[in-house]
Amino acid sequence: MTTQTFRIAAIPADGVGQEVVAAGRRVLDAIAGASHGKFAFAWQEFPWGADFYARTGTMMDEDGLEQLKDFDAIYFGAVGWPSVPDHISLWGLRLKICQGFDQWANVRPVTFLPGVRSPLRKADEVELDWVVVRENSEGEYAGLGGRNLAARGHGGEVAIQSALFTEVGCERIMRFAFDLARTRARRKVSSVTKSNAQQYGMVLWDDVFKRVAADYPDVETESVLVDAMSAKFVLRPEDLSVVVASNLNADILSDLGSALAGSLGLASSANLNPERRYPSMFEPVHGSAPDIAGQGICNPIGAIASAALMLEHFGLETEAKNLNRAIEATTAQGVSTRDIGGTATTDEVTNALIANLAD
Ligand code: NAI
Ligand code: MG
Repeated sequence: MTTQTFRIAAIPADGVGQEVVAAGRRVLDAIAGASHGKFAFAWQEFPWGADFYARTGTMMDEDGLEQLKDFDAIYFGAVGWPSVPDHISLWGLRLKICQGFDQWANVRPVTFLPGVRSPLRKADEVELDWVVVRENSEGEYAGLGGRNLAARGHGGEVAIQSALFTEVGCERIMRFAFDLARTRARRKVSSVTKSNAQQYGMVLWDDVFKRVAADYPDVETESVLVDAMSAKFVLRPEDLSVVVASNLNADILSDLGSALAGSLGLASSANLNPERRYPSMFEPVHGSAPDIAGQGICNPIGAIASAALMLEHFGLETEAKNLNRAIEATTAQGVSTRDIGGTATTDEVTNALIANLAD
């Protein structure tokens, strides 16, 4: 049998990113080891992040995208450290990769795990499970704008930050959301905007949503304003299946979703270039968590569940399912880090999870 080798670029970057990527790599290597030669992972680690910035003045090598472009996937930790302004670290590394590789679909499942207490009372009574699909290439994070007129003196500077909405960008993310809805038990797409107040870009979004929806008569739809959707996440989450939203709105809503599921440390995400012209990137939703970094206590599950999304992307569906089952078995056993009420370390959770893979 020939072994299929997937080449993965690991970019742990900063803070707990280092710890959770190490945990995820251990899990993936255990899965490959158990595949009896069916597949293997060839890792290359890149030292980019805040320390690299301190040494070089840039967050990644100048030809970083060139170095990454032939990998099968990127496994990313988290970027950001108090020593570097957040907009420099985010734009210099994570957004540079997302935009440079046209990873226009950001998939962020909201998963309620057994044994994890949700702050939502109704999570004990009803089945909750939805996916936030985030437009990941334009919108409010298009990076268009500027600052000027500082010469007016203190207090006189101006700044413009423009949001970019294109029909192409809206249509492709919506089709992605509808196609995803067709694979789920509940075939429903909820579109989120603030089109009452933002009457150009978001009304274009609404128009495209109506046009695309007409091609999917078998999928239920609703359009909800982002403020109302925040309330709905808390009050009627059982009515959600796929939620599609612009870059900023989906960013905020997915953090809310993961908090409702029990912890930011549990949430996974995939930044996909669905055409596969470039590598896609898999990363936990959380940041570098400087408040707990370096203590070995961060929750590795968000990063490990992101590795499951990577396995799916590689076409290793059975392995992905098995990994998700091992995650559920581990939380059900109560092997949990502090953020979800346990006392286990990052390593203990990872070890228990690897043991559960074999069952
Ligand atoms: P954060 O996600 O790092 O932390 C928020 C809270 O969640 C903290 O209390 C933290 O301890 C907790 N938390 C996060 N991940 C956890 C885990 N795996 N296990 C247990 N608890 C966890 O967000 P924050 O504090 O706003 O940002 C810190 C830095 O991370 C900043 O520099 C920010 O720019 C960056 N950031 C990077 C992201 C990325 O690389 N994708 C996403 C969000 C923030
Ligand atoms: Mg976020």
